[in-house]
Amino acid sequence: MPRAILVGGVGLGLLASLLSLHVRPGPRLDCVTLVQQFLEALSPLATSKVQARFGSQRALHEISVACASPRSPSSGLGSAAQHVGDPDALAWSARYDALRGVNLGGWLLMERWLVGGNAYVNTTCCGRVESPYNGTACSSATSELPLTVELRARGELQKIDAFRDAFVTRADFALLRALGVDSVRLPIGYWIVDPEVVPAQPGFYQGAGLRLVDDAVRWAEEAGLTVFLQLHGAPGGQSGAQTTGFENKSWTAASFNASASVEILRKLAQRYAAAQNVIALGLLNEPELPVDTLLPFYEEAIRAIREHMPASRVAVVINLFSERGLLAIATDAWRVFNVQLTPARGFANIIFDLHIYYAFLPQQLADTSLATVTGTLVWVQSLLTQVTGRPVIVGEWSLRLPGWGTAVGDEFDALTPRAQNATLQRFATNQIDGISRPGASDAQPRIGGYFWSWNAPVLSAVRGPGCVSGAQAQWGFNISLNARWIAPGQWSAATPAPAIQSVG
Ligand SMILES: *[C@@H]1O[C@H](CO)[C@@H](O)[C@H](O)[C@H]1NC(C)=O
Ligand SMILES: *[C@@H]1O[C@H](CO)[C@@H](O)[C@H](O)[C@H]1NC(C)=O
Ligand SMILES: *[C@@H]1O[C@H](CO)[C@@H](O)[C@H](O)[C@H]1NC(C)=O
Ligand SMILES: *[C@@H]1O[C@H](CO)[C@@H](O)[C@H](O)[C@H]1NC(C)=O
Ligand SMILES: *[C@@H]1O[C@H](CO)[C@@H](O)[C@H](O)[C@H]1NC(C)=O
Ligand SMILES: *[C@@H]1O[C@H](CO)[C@@H](O)[C@H](O)[C@H]1NC(C)=O
Repeated sequence: MPRAILVGGVGLGLLASLLSLHVRPGPRLDCVTLVQQFLEALSPLATSKVQARFGSQRALHEISVACASPRSPSSGLGSAAQHVGDPDALAWSARYDALRGVNLGGWLLMERWLVGGNAYVNTTCCGRVESPYNGTACSSATSELPLTVELRARGELQKIDAFRDAFVTRADFALLRALGVDSVRLPIGYWIVDPEVVPAQPGFYQGAGLRLVDDAVRWAEEAGLTVFLQLHGAPGGQSGAQTTGFENKSWTAASFNASASVEILRKLAQRYAAAQNVIALGLLNEPELPVDTLLPFYEEAIRAIREHMPASRVAVVINLFSERGLLAIATDAWRVFNVQLTPARGFANIIFDLHIYYAFLPQQLADTSLATVTGTLVWVQSLLTQVTGRPVIVGEWSLRLPGWGTAVGDEFDALTPRAQNATLQRFATNQIDGISRPGASDAQPRIGGYFWSWNAPVLSAVRGPGCVSGAQAQWGFNISLNARWIAPGQWSAATPAPAIQSVG
């Protein structure tokens, strides 16, 4: 339980008064009490939208049952949610306890909302450089694939090379370490590894390809940073979102190519097997795939990875996609992954990744109040790191709040710059505590995670109608530090944990 947040006065009492509910915080609020009270508080709001985000009430109930007995044997979901006995995962998470990571988003997978909002992007190495999306504001280049097709037709693929060479360079790694960051998560489109792996989906541009990943791993090592490699855009797409590199409104799960995705992960594992600072490999980012597609894919992918990367050194990371709400925990993780992906069945050092965001809340929660979202909700969502049954890394978090058109967004916009500043500072502190400060009733360590993202170019006109949508300042780590929303040293590791040397 993150005591600091409760002591800070934004705990249950506040939720209760805001939602006019009667709750009785006892002297010792354990996990089950907290979740049950959250469940009570949520029930008047339990419309289908809230349920879509937080899972059904049943899922919440199941979580509260699991919280009640995280270690003791019991029947049903309670036992499914017990900690998976995975000594490698426990040793790994103890070693990398309190990871202070940052995502290098938008680089090896050019998400339009992140790097295409303006004609240019700011960089560390080279100042303002042209965005690869410059001049495509009203075209159909809504993601990397159609952008690439358009640039190829215009004979301008070198714009992609220029962007990749400038957006992240060796200087960024040194600066990240100087700022106290100890690890980077590197989202990679499959085409960087091998664009030919899926003959049915041509068009992506490999360019310098794996040389870029080689550079990133080496620059990270020189700077003293560890690396979490993430397959972010899988062959065929693990969803139809632009974050896969190809926004396709008619995407279906049948498009996802599991065997090609295994091949990409195998190549990554093989190529970086000897890189001692590569500490984690993420299988799929935010998959919108049914669990009966995911499980056989995960099994095959983990076997392929383990031929090259030992469980003693490299964690294999499974993203429980939060858009599916608590069901991703209560059904996918507890009922399936925690039963099937165990050391006894040959799967060791498997950890979970949760993306804990506040920007995409369902209307009912986005219409509560700024204090509820930046305080109580942070504390509740952070509890999720305790209930999955495995160590959890928060692969993505940010300071972005729900935007305009929500009560919380409008409340934030109406504040003075000074008050906005203070709100974001509190929001940052609560989140950092929530994902990394041990709570009294914690069943497992809070490992920390990775801010999304290093450099988020600020879109000048975020509100106006038009063809372009883009990122806001609160998505940027560097911006958040420069603005002092995150205090110097607050997301900082004094000494990065050294990599585990492979034996033999
Ligand atoms: C990060 O901020 C520093 C100033 O603290 C600046 O020199 C650098 O260019 C920024 N990097 C990026 C990628 O924006
Ligand atoms: C964007 O493209 C326009 C039109 O080709 C060009 O004039 C402008 O210089 C480009 N912007 C940048 C930042 O390179
Ligand atoms: C978009 O998804 C649909 C459904 O999976 C698929 O048939 C189609 O080929 C995809 N579009 C492209 C251009 O790949
Ligand atoms: C899936 O990838 C494999 C290569 O791993 C390829 O042989 C197959 O054609 C792909 N399937 C589709 C539908 O693209
Ligand atoms: C935000 O807070 C920081 C640190 O407290 C301060 O340096 C900065 O001037 C503040 N900005 C505004 C707009 O109040
Ligand atoms: C670039 O940085 C300047 C100031 O450092 C900022 O005002 C501007 O919004 C940034 N532009 C982008 C596209 O991020």
